[in-house]
Amino acid sequence: MKTHVERRQKAAAAQWNLKNEIVLIGAGDYIHVPGRADMTYPFRSHSEYTYLTDRERPGAVLAFDPQSGWADFVPRVTQDERVWIGASVEDEGTAFEEFAAWLEKRKGRRVAVLGCPIAGIASDAALEADVREGLNVVRRPKDEVELDRMRKAADASRVGYAGVQSVLKPGITERQAQIELEAGFFRGGGDRTAYDSIVGGGTNSAVLHFAPSHRPFAAGELILIDAGAEVGCYASDVTRTYAASGKFTLEQADIYKLVLATEEAAVKKCMPGTEYKTIHIGASRQIAQGLLDLGILKGNVDSLMEQDTQALFFPHGVGHLVGLGVRDAGGYLPGRKRSETPGLRFLRIDMPLLPGYTVTIEPGIYFIPALLQDAELRRKHRDNVNWDRVDKMLNFGGIRIEDNIHVTETGYENLTAAIPKAS
Ligand code: GLY
Ligand code: MN
Repeated sequence: MKTHVERRQKAAAAQWNLKNEIVLIGAGDYIHVPGRADMTYPFRSHSEYTYLTDRERPGAVLAFDPQSGWADFVPRVTQDERVWIGASVEDEGTAFEEFAAWLEKRKGRRVAVLGCPIAGIASDAALEADVREGLNVVRRPKDEVELDRMRKAADASRVGYAGVQSVLKPGITERQAQIELEAGFFRGGGDRTAYDSIVGGGTNSAVLHFAPSHRPFAAGELILIDAGAEVGCYASDVTRTYAASGKFTLEQADIYKLVLATEEAAVKKCMPGTEYKTIHIGASRQIAQGLLDLGILKGNVDSLMEQDTQALFFPHGVGHLVGLGVRDAGGYLPGRKRSETPGLRFLRIDMPLLPGYTVTIEPGIYFIPALLQDAELRRKHRDNVNWDRVDKMLNFGGIRIEDNIHVTETGYENLTAAIPKAS
């Protein structure tokens, strides 16, 4: 067995400290595309399975019994798979057929199912929650194998961003930009894109997850690109915003400087012990203050924050855990509840940062007509916003800047620092 896999399995078992309970981790199965006959989505094992096996294999189950240890049940590669998709996977572990007998011998014991559901097996909800949290504790600090892949993913992303930046100009379409970007990811060593690339020009840059279209960029527009390469199942997640003509207008430059300063300040706070929520609130405050200084908001920061006025322009969280997939083992620590207020409802993680954690930092400011033309929101924030000014900026678009930060023992390492930002 690969030594990093052995180390992870040992760490999970130690963290769980079980006596008699069974843990099963399902890799998952092919998922058919509805209505498309035998077509399936690209297979990805559940992250919990991938972490503990470093393998992507449909139908596999990893099992743990504290009395007998780990058992690794993997379906044998079929002849059809060899014919249609090639034998990229060799037979590993124990033949899946032996799983039923393994389980039968342990009948009557509590079972938690992690990963994907396993047909015919009921999971004990309380035990499942406990072991999932235990596994998350182990997964969050990245080991050297993971960091190496994340650095490679960041480097492949660097190649893609260098390629796209060199072709951006008025007349180039979002799709052409996507092609340059993703070709660079693959040339740079990426296995796949870590998620669907976001490329938006002009007003499309204000759509948080905009899927690139054939629309050409126009002179004077913003271009927002949020994309990343993946290597060995490990993601990078990067956002840069550019001026289509190579130079921001004065209004764009003001907002860009504010987002950049907010991002840089938030990155510097990524230290062991810092609450991620504190970083989010700090970024929200800095955006509120900056918009106040620019005359877009009115009043004072405390009262704006109290009413979440900044969330009209910064309607998402400051980031998330990244690593094994673009959303790694995030969530809220047990006992912490997600707030439904506009400024906090998309806060994806609520926990202190610890050495080895890898997070994104991605503040943004957007002029989103769906929010800024909403009658109820306008009423609620009537006195807090310079609405005449905002109404003239409805076509502004949006600016987001995002890096991937590895928290170290003493501070942080910016994994995506080599991807230049517009200045
Ligand atoms: N890269 C997209 C996101 O983090 O939501
Ligand atoms: Mn992100």
